[in-house]
Amino acid sequence: MRCSSFYCYYSIVVLLLVFGVFNLFKDRDEKETVEIGKFRGIYVQNAYRVSDEEVRFFYLENQDNRVNLKSQIPLVGWKPIRWFCLNTTCSDYFYCSMATRFGSVSLPPHSPHQLYINLSTEGNNEYTVVPVKDVRPGPTYSHTLGVCLQPIFFFTDWTIVIQFLESWIAQGATKFYFYLHSYTWQTKKVLDFYKESLGDDLELVEWSDLPVHSKDRGNYDSDPNSRVFRHGAIAFMHDCMLRARSVVKFVANTDLDDFPVSSTLNISDNLNYLSIKYPNAAQFKVDWLLSHQKQNWGAVDTPRDMGFSLESVRVLQNESIRWDYRTAKKLIHRPERVVHFDMHSVFQNEVDSVTKNQYSTIDLLGSSDLYFLHLRRFEQKLVTPHDVFYNNRLDTNLLLKLKERMLDQYSERINGTRFADTILSPWSEDALNTMRDLEQCRCEAFGTVLNHKNQICQQSSAGCEGMLTSGISFIKTRQTWKNINRRGRYNNYFEKPKSYSFFSSPYFWS
Ligand SMILES: *[C@@H]1O[C@H](CO)[C@@H](O)[C@H](O)[C@H]1NC(C)=O
Ligand SMILES: *[C@@H]1O[C@H](CO)[C@@H](O)[C@H](O)[C@H]1NC(C)=O
Ligand SMILES: *[C@@H]1O[C@H](CO)[C@@H](O)[C@H](O)[C@H]1NC(C)=O
Ligand SMILES: *[C@@H]1O[C@H](CO)[C@@H](O)[C@H](O)[C@H]1NC(C)=O
Ligand SMILES: *[C@@H]1O[C@H](CO)[C@@H](O)[C@H](O)[C@H]1NC(C)=O
Repeated sequence: MRCSSFYCYYSIVVLLLVFGVFNLFKDRDEKETVEIGKFRGIYVQNAYRVSDEEVRFFYLENQDNRVNLKSQIPLVGWKPIRWFCLNTTCSDYFYCSMATRFGSVSLPPHSPHQLYINLSTEGNNEYTVVPVKDVRPGPTYSHTLGVCLQPIFFFTDWTIVIQFLESWIAQGATKFYFYLHSYTWQTKKVLDFYKESLGDDLELVEWSDLPVHSKDRGNYDSDPNSRVFRHGAIAFMHDCMLRARSVVKFVANTDLDDFPVSSTLNISDNLNYLSIKYPNAAQFKVDWLLSHQKQNWGAVDTPRDMGFSLESVRVLQNESIRWDYRTAKKLIHRPERVVHFDMHSVFQNEVDSVTKNQYSTIDLLGSSDLYFLHLRRFEQKLVTPHDVFYNNRLDTNLLLKLKERMLDQYSERINGTRFADTILSPWSEDALNTMRDLEQCRCEAFGTVLNHKNQICQQSSAGCEGMLTSGISFIKTRQTWKNINRRGRYNNYFEKPKSYSFFSSPYFWS
């Protein structure tokens, strides 16, 4: 068939147009469905005023996201936020694609402090209000030594909370940032008791899962919590260092099984001395010795039964330790001098405004003045040792002295309280089972054995929760993350007023 008339061409053009418009809509529809199952959320909890000119925060988002953020500056309006990935690969650990990022808002000179900041994403007309803590440097620190504790999750062993706090307090720590995700009622009793005893010196920081539809919970393809490494461990440690800025001079980044030892039993004194010797230090890197402490949990029913069995601590011989644990170290930071780090390494420090050089990391490796014992609580090889060798270089007298100090201090603390004789058992069997399950969760996720071929995110909250078998319930903190990339598709309740029509008039319908 030939097209020769004007009408023929005309109808082809009309057909093409209709087809094009149809395709436009089709494309849009397709894009919208493809979005489902992608992780588009951008999650923030808190921001910090670190200087007169800057508000800083850390946030989580999928590693492929390239959406720019914006913030509302008083008297200026919406401005883009400077950000960078904490890694060249823009991912966190072990194939966990929900990555931690650094965000920075520049403020005009002499901006008064605002308790909240409005954050949003490019092209988004919704925004989220995020609290801002003022951590600008003051004339002095309120505390010399503080501790950031990695979020406790599906946590059962309340006895180690007591050992941890007493060991730090006995050696000079006066400020604790305890991050909480999920824990048993017994743990809550212990935390409540210490909160009452320590007051503001113990900050319990709620640190929840990311918000997720209940239909997607535990689903590897649609629950963002399946892609977050160890409850946002990397975001936690950076958030905590910002929180401690200008409040605490030295802050250790720890887990509950990290047990500090100073040869003088006075860590704050030790660090003060070191910071005079090394005025440009941003942090001190110390040994972290894999050790075993025999637990007799079955015999502990009440807080009064706590004995701090430090005499049973054994340090493993170097050759008996897996290579990565043999070389891993622990860090104690000056919070306002560090920018980017992880459990064992430093990637970036602040620049000293006077010398224009980055502050430095001081190695104290091999020092017997200050080190950490890494007391693994559950390790089959350590519970029933056969091919594991211990070294005998540990100063047992020092540990016994420390134990005595901890016991005195603790007896005084619980003396005459109802807490001392509160029955917290049965708990030990559930604790052991839960710890086994959590250890298993380091080697398996979503029904897949984890190795370099199976690149599935390890130790995620969504992955581990489904592997718990003890049947006990955990107290979970309330939702604390905010998604600043919400883009709702809403029903429209409005309509442009139409001109009057007889058919819509009440006369027609009556
Ligand atoms: C942020 O939004 C609130 C309303 O939710 C508004 O009152 C406030 O002025 C905004 N902040 C800035 C800095 O614009
Ligand atoms: C960053 O990337 C390297 C490999 O490129 C990886 O070894 C490391 O664990 C990653 N994560 C962080 C937080 O540095
Ligand atoms: C550590 O030493 C300082 C100063 O020498 C002292 O004020 C403080 O009480 C000591 N702390 C402990 C826990 O011994
Ligand atoms: C233990 O082994 C690591 C790695 O081989 C080494 O760097 C470290 O110096 C050793 N430590 C001791 C105390 O021998
Ligand atoms: C407990 O408190 C009582 C008085 O309140 C006191 O006499 C006793 O010495 C205290 N015991 C300890 C171990 O601190």
